[in-house]
Amino acid sequence: MTPLELSVLDRLREAAAEAAQRAYAPYSRFCVGAALLFDDGAMVTGCNVENMSFGLTSCAERNALFRAISEAGPSRRIRAIAVANRNGAASPPCGACRQVLSEFVTPDAVVCFPGEQGPETRQFADLFPFGFTLEPRG
Ligand code: THU
Repeated sequence: MTPLELSVLDRLREAAAEAAQRAYAPYSRFCVGAALLFDDGAMVTGCNVENMSFGLTSCAERNALFRAISEAGPSRRIRAIAVANRNGAASPPCGACRQVLSEFVTPDAVVCFPGEQGPETRQFADLFPFGFTLEPRG
Protein backbone atom coordinates (compact mmCIF):
# COMPACT_ATOMS: atom_id res chain seq x y z
CA MET A 1 0.00 0.00 0.00
CA THR A 2 1.29 3.50 -0.80
CA PRO A 3 2.50 5.54 2.19
CA LEU A 4 0.06 8.16 3.50
CA GLU A 5 0.89 11.66 2.35
CA LEU A 6 0.96 14.41 4.97
CA SER A 7 -1.44 16.48 2.87
CA VAL A 8 -3.98 13.66 3.10
CA LEU A 9 -3.73 13.67 6.88
CA ASP A 10 -4.15 17.47 6.84
CA ARG A 11 -7.35 17.07 4.85
CA LEU A 12 -8.53 14.36 7.22
CA ARG A 13 -7.96 16.67 10.20
CA GLU A 14 -9.87 19.44 8.43
CA ALA A 15 -12.75 17.06 7.72
CA ALA A 16 -12.86 16.11 11.42
CA ALA A 17 -12.91 19.79 12.42
CA GLU A 18 -15.77 20.45 9.98
CA ALA A 19 -17.70 17.49 11.37
CA ALA A 20 -17.29 18.87 14.90
CA GLN A 21 -19.32 21.89 13.74
CA ARG A 22 -22.30 19.56 13.32
CA ALA A 23 -22.09 18.00 16.80
CA TYR A 24 -25.20 17.79 18.93
CA ALA A 25 -23.78 18.29 22.40
CA PRO A 26 -26.11 20.53 24.42
CA TYR A 27 -25.41 18.64 27.69
CA SER A 28 -21.62 18.43 27.83
CA ARG A 29 -21.03 21.25 25.32
CA PHE A 30 -18.05 19.15 24.16
CA CYS A 31 -18.31 19.07 20.36
CA VAL A 32 -16.35 16.31 18.69
CA GLY A 33 -15.78 15.44 15.03
CA ALA A 34 -14.07 12.39 13.55
CA ALA A 35 -12.92 11.54 10.05
CA LEU A 36 -11.89 8.09 8.83
CA LEU A 37 -9.68 7.46 5.81
CA PHE A 38 -10.40 4.11 4.16
CA ASP A 39 -8.14 1.98 1.96
CA ASP A 40 -10.16 2.93 -1.13
CA GLY A 41 -9.35 6.61 -0.47
CA ALA A 42 -12.80 7.52 0.87
CA MET A 43 -13.14 9.85 3.85
CA VAL A 44 -16.17 9.43 6.10
CA THR A 45 -17.02 11.79 8.95
CA GLY A 46 -19.12 11.70 12.09
CA CYS A 47 -19.90 13.90 15.08
CA ASN A 48 -21.07 13.16 18.59
CA VAL A 49 -24.81 13.05 19.17
CA GLU A 50 -25.89 13.39 22.77
CA ASN A 51 -29.13 12.44 24.43
CA MET A 52 -30.73 13.78 27.59
CA SER A 53 -30.51 10.29 29.06
CA PHE A 54 -26.71 10.79 28.84
CA GLY A 55 -26.10 7.02 28.55
CA LEU A 56 -27.46 6.94 25.00
CA THR A 57 -24.93 9.48 23.77
CA SER A 58 -22.98 8.30 20.74
CA CYS A 59 -19.36 9.30 20.09
CA ALA A 60 -18.12 10.95 16.89
CA GLU A 61 -15.71 8.12 16.04
CA ARG A 62 -18.30 5.36 16.28
CA ASN A 63 -20.87 7.43 14.42
CA ALA A 64 -18.37 7.86 11.56
CA LEU A 65 -17.66 4.12 11.47
CA PHE A 66 -21.31 3.08 11.59
CA ARG A 67 -22.13 5.56 8.86
CA ALA A 68 -19.30 4.24 6.69
CA ILE A 69 -20.38 0.62 7.07
CA SER A 70 -24.03 1.48 6.53
CA GLU A 71 -23.16 3.28 3.31
CA ALA A 72 -20.52 0.94 1.81
CA GLY A 73 -20.42 -2.31 3.81
CA PRO A 74 -17.80 -3.74 6.19
CA SER A 75 -15.00 -4.81 3.83
CA ARG A 76 -13.00 -1.56 3.69
CA ARG A 77 -10.18 -1.00 6.16
CA ILE A 78 -9.32 2.23 7.97
CA ARG A 79 -5.84 3.61 7.31
CA ALA A 80 -6.13 6.80 9.35
CA ILE A 81 -8.43 8.39 11.92
CA ALA A 82 -8.59 12.08 12.77
CA VAL A 83 -10.39 13.52 15.79
CA ALA A 84 -11.11 17.20 16.48
CA ASN A 85 -13.10 19.19 18.98
CA ARG A 86 -14.38 22.76 19.24
CA ASN A 87 -13.30 23.14 22.86
CA GLY A 88 -9.54 23.51 22.49
CA ALA A 89 -9.08 20.43 24.65
CA ALA A 90 -7.24 17.13 24.29
CA SER A 91 -9.45 14.40 22.83
CA PRO A 92 -7.96 11.07 21.87
CA PRO A 93 -10.62 8.47 20.98
CA CYS A 94 -12.21 6.95 24.09
CA GLY A 95 -11.59 3.32 25.01
CA ALA A 96 -14.97 2.14 23.74
CA CYS A 97 -14.33 3.72 20.33
CA ARG A 98 -10.85 2.17 20.19
CA GLN A 99 -12.34 -1.27 20.77
CA VAL A 100 -14.95 -0.79 18.04
CA LEU A 101 -12.51 0.75 15.55
CA SER A 102 -9.99 -2.04 16.19
CA GLU A 103 -11.97 -4.50 14.07
CA PHE A 104 -11.59 -2.31 11.00
CA VAL A 105 -8.10 -0.76 11.11
CA THR A 106 -5.08 -1.77 9.04
CA PRO A 107 -2.08 -2.96 11.11
CA ASP A 108 -0.29 0.35 10.43
CA ALA A 109 -3.27 2.70 10.91
CA VAL A 110 -2.57 6.08 12.51
CA VAL A 111 -4.65 8.32 14.76
CA CYS A 112 -4.39 12.14 14.68
CA PHE A 113 -5.92 13.90 17.67
CA PRO A 114 -5.55 17.00 19.81
CA GLY A 115 -3.19 16.06 22.66
CA GLU A 116 -2.38 17.85 25.91
CA GLN A 117 0.55 19.62 24.23
CA GLY A 118 -0.94 20.09 20.75
CA PRO A 119 -1.64 17.89 17.73
CA GLU A 120 -0.50 14.27 18.04
CA THR A 121 -0.21 11.43 15.56
CA ARG A 122 0.14 7.92 16.96
CA GLN A 123 -0.07 4.38 15.70
CA PHE A 124 -3.48 2.88 16.46
CA ALA A 125 -1.68 -0.25 17.68
CA ASP A 126 0.16 1.85 20.30
CA LEU A 127 -3.07 3.41 21.53
CA PHE A 128 -4.88 0.08 21.81
CA PRO A 129 -2.44 -2.76 22.38
CA PHE A 130 -4.53 -5.40 24.22
CA GLY A 131 -8.06 -5.21 22.80
CA PHE A 132 -10.65 -7.90 23.30
CA THR A 133 -10.71 -10.43 20.47
CA LEU A 134 -13.07 -13.29 19.66
CA GLU A 135 -12.71 -15.71 16.77
CA PRO A 136 -15.96 -15.96 14.79
CA ARG A 137 -17.44 -19.44 15.39
CA GLY A 138 -18.40 -22.04 12.81
N1 THU B 1 -16.97 11.94 22.90
C1 THU B 1 -16.72 11.58 21.59
O1 THU B 1 -17.46 11.96 20.69
N2 THU B 1 -15.63 10.81 21.34
C2 THU B 1 -14.79 10.32 22.29
O2 THU B 1 -13.87 9.57 21.96
C3 THU B 1 -14.99 10.67 23.69
C4 THU B 1 -16.14 11.54 24.00
C5 THU B 1 -18.15 12.76 23.19
C6 THU B 1 -19.24 12.05 23.95
C7 THU B 1 -19.93 13.21 24.64
O3 THU B 1 -20.92 13.72 23.77
C8 THU B 1 -18.85 14.26 24.81
O4 THU B 1 -17.78 13.87 23.98
C9 THU B 1 -18.35 14.39 26.25
O5 THU B 1 -17.97 13.17 26.76
